[in-house]
Amino acid sequence: METKTDERTAVIEVRRLALADIKPHPKNPRKHPEENSAAWLVLKKSLERDYFDPLVVNRRNGMLVSGHLRHKILLASGFTHADVSLVDYDEATHVARLIAANSLIGEFDDATLTALAAELNAASLSASLAGWTEDELAALVDGLPPAADGEEKPVRDLKEKFGVAPFSILRVFQWLGRKKLWNTLIGDGGETRAGCLPKEGQFQMALPAVSLLDPVLCELMLLWFGMPHGVKPRCLDPFAGGAAFGFVSAFKGCEFTGVELRQEQCDLNGQRLAAAGLSGRYICDDGCNVLRHVAPESQDFLFSCPPYYNLEKYSNLPNDASNAPTFEEFIVVLDKALGDAALTLKENRFAVVVVSNVRDKKTGGYHDLAGAVVKIFQRRGLLFYNDLILADCLSSASRRAYQYMSNSRKVARVHQNVLVFYKGDVKKIAELFPVADIEETLTACVPENETWLGTGELHA
Ligand SMILES: C[S@@+](CC[C@H](N)C(=O)[O-])C[C@H]1O[C@@H](n2cnc3c(N)ncnc32)[C@H](O)[C@@H]1O
Repeated sequence: METKTDERTAVIEVRRLALADIKPHPKNPRKHPEENSAAWLVLKKSLERDYFDPLVVNRRNGMLVSGHLRHKILLASGFTHADVSLVDYDEATHVARLIAANSLIGEFDDATLTALAAELNAASLSASLAGWTEDELAALVDGLPPAADGEEKPVRDLKEKFGVAPFSILRVFQWLGRKKLWNTLIGDGGETRAGCLPKEGQFQMALPAVSLLDPVLCELMLLWFGMPHGVKPRCLDPFAGGAAFGFVSAFKGCEFTGVELRQEQCDLNGQRLAAAGLSGRYICDDGCNVLRHVAPESQDFLFSCPPYYNLEKYSNLPNDASNAPTFEEFIVVLDKALGDAALTLKENRFAVVVVSNVRDKKTGGYHDLAGAVVKIFQRRGLLFYNDLILADCLSSASRRAYQYMSNSRKVARVHQNVLVFYKGDVKKIAELFPVADIEETLTACVPENETWLGTGELHA
């Protein structure tokens, strides 16, 4: 008889256990839906129909590695026993696998996750064991308060006061849960721009994901710079694009005006806001005409993410900035639209522009788009006040980085620039933008005993 030498079997050890004997792991970072909530009932129904994804139990401590929610629901549904997959882990490996098992679904408790990341790091275990890249692990560990009892404010205090620590690098990784919530609320899948996106490789040279504006970035910028004390803020975006900023600002009680060249995008944005019971003004026009619609010195916050030159082509309209024949001509459009938008700002107010430098498609060298935007605002008398980096999740960057570096010594861009400008007298900032206001708004955003990032719900 012929023996197969290449057979290799992935083995699991299955054991039937009493559910009452299986203990949850106290460090499970996943937040569970309320009993009898919609999410709970969906899973309950599914488990009653069939059970195909076994609980995973560590034989050394009798605790769950995976399936905490399923375990709860099975018990609540009257099951007494279940077939489980048995594993044999020390504590550090158990914790790492616990996170990996939960990494694709659900909402995490930010503080628990940060503490677990530190444990994993201290145990010198590979980040991949928890399903993270080394970079993601480092980002999480960075979120811990400094060990020294020095002068520095613990990062956790900073998060409580400001939502995330106000450092010049903002890591998208730390707010993925909240981003998912916003995106579900907004429901923007970038439909009107599906045909506009460049080929995958070309696009990803500059940005790591589809260029939908990050709603948590919108929210943070609004909370930090857009809500002066005692006013119902009026916010403007002269290159409005999708619904993200309009939705978030309307949700927070602001009066939003967006100028956008494409009618279908304006219509869709209007529908998205209306569906959520919100209102905002979308004007279909060239951003260069912003002063026809918005009075000078009338706005409290300017926020914009203009086209990144010709990285994405939005339409065939001749005045679509992404169709400008040269970078210099593109900057002329930006200069008029953003420059005039700056004139609509009241005194003692902020403007935030999100951009990314882009490579010239012929030479491969960079166009300094961020530098050009800084000059536009400085020429209108605004101060270049904060220079932030938005660090995107790395996703497939490692693969791309290998190719770029090998083929052309280019490094993979995994960040965007968030440029903050101020118009007026800087001495007024403390009075007009008190820290107490940010704290109040954050507190109003979340139910008691939850953190802004860890919340399961968004509140205006
Ligand atoms: C990078 S996108 C904006 C991203 C947006 N903030 C979002 O949430 O999706 C740039 C937008 O500028 C629009 N646009 C291009 N040229 C324009 C112009 N001259 N005036 C106004 N909008 C323009 C495009 O149609 C596109 O929707």
